[in-house]
Amino acid sequence: MAVLQIWKDGHCTPLSFEAPAPLWELLERAGAYARRPCGGRGLCGKCAVTVTGAVSRRNAAETAAGTRLACQAEILGDAQVFLPAPAQEQIQTDTGKIPLGRPMEGRIGAAVDIGTTTVVLRRYDLTTGQLLGQAAMVDPQIATAADVMGRIDVAVHGKLDALSAQIREAVTALLLQAGGPADTAVITGNTTMLYLLTGRDPSPLAKAPFEADTLFDTLWEGAYLPPCLHAFVGADITCAVLDSGMCERAETALLCDLGTNGELALWKDGTLFVTSTAAGPAFEGAGISCGCSSIAGAIDRVWVEDGALRIHTIGEQPPVGLCGSGLIDAVAALLQTERLDETGALEDGDVVLAPGVCLQQKDIRAVQLAKAAIAAGIAVLLETSHTDCAEIGTFYLAGGFGSRMDASNGARIGLFPGELTDKICVLGNGALAGAARMLLDRESVSSARDIASRSRHVTLSGSRSFQEHYMEQLLFPEP
Ligand code: FES
Repeated sequence: MAVLQIWKDGHCTPLSFEAPAPLWELLERAGAYARRPCGGRGLCGKCAVTVTGAVSRRNAAETAAGTRLACQAEILGDAQVFLPAPAQEQIQTDTGKIPLGRPMEGRIGAAVDIGTTTVVLRRYDLTTGQLLGQAAMVDPQIATAADVMGRIDVAVHGKLDALSAQIREAVTALLLQAGGPADTAVITGNTTMLYLLTGRDPSPLAKAPFEADTLFDTLWEGAYLPPCLHAFVGADITCAVLDSGMCERAETALLCDLGTNGELALWKDGTLFVTSTAAGPAFEGAGISCGCSSIAGAIDRVWVEDGALRIHTIGEQPPVGLCGSGLIDAVAALLQTERLDETGALEDGDVVLAPGVCLQQKDIRAVQLAKAAIAAGIAVLLETSHTDCAEIGTFYLAGGFGSRMDASNGARIGLFPGELTDKICVLGNGALAGAARMLLDRESVSSARDIASRSRHVTLSGSRSFQEHYMEQLLFPEP
């Protein structure tokens, strides 16, 4: 028996089957896909997917579409399929948010954010600025390696072309899902993702002195790739900073994108101090014993009521795991009820949050490592820029996790200084919004270049100050 891993909405469902089998049949059997507008004749492109592993060669319809089609591909053995999903909620939320200026050339344009875990695309009418469609999918490279360093390692060992093809296919599949092709695009992402997209050898990113041999700000196959700020502070941060508008104001401000790689930017007196710190995947629900991404049934809220822990799940579904925001809440609740001390020791062993979902001592340790990395990074940026925390006027939180997190609990566990809680401004996917701004107004490209020219990278590795703050921040703060 072969196994097909079906990735959808950040969740993976394995399906055992007798190979070979048509992909469409397998997806139907798993109840994973329902749309087949052209009746499965390979004409509409609406079943565009990304497939890795043992799969048939592209047929004529797939070659014409420029992507794999679920109605055409055949699975020959163990494989992974990544299903895009239209992100309708966000379309409604974001419609009209980006002002139309002097757009890039063409009638239809796409803004794309290639994240390490998720790829998101918006398709715009460049004559009106109207958002035409949006789609998202798990980054298919995740089947090869979960984090940036793992992917660099795989790429330098002969798989660069394969990783590059996967991400290009994913973008094509998302375009079709969002309504069709585009004349032009702005594609953002962290530095490694842009290296892999463009098929560039990423080995300079993996060895001392860890410097990129390009920071992009270039055209590539009809798409504009905005400037990265450093090997580990990517164009996604340039775009998020652009979207926040923080560099256009005199106010001192801090921006934090909480992901596997925590990226930080502090704006003060005309200089943008930037750095990145390896937080690990805990806040994305990975590497935690019952962790999961923000899927239906994920415990996303935990609080104390009458001395007992209460939970909420996404979509009010039966609990299936604990996602990042629930994890932070749970740790804060355990500190509140004194079942967890400031050293991170659980007083009474594992904590059962729901049937089959528990929090173990090793999970608490993972949270301590992650939050210490972010908090120490913030401390070093404040120190380097000679900034007192009280001077920060706005604290921007970028990324999906930042929008879902309960800020007071983030401060309670020591992820960032408590005095920043009242200054939080949630950006959401600032990277994608920044890319869309450039697409809809070319003036924003100049702003992005200005941001890059004003940035100053602060190195944390080998920094004694970072090490000292990191050790201190491993403890949870006193109440
Ligand atoms: S269903 Fe139309 S191309 Fe596959």
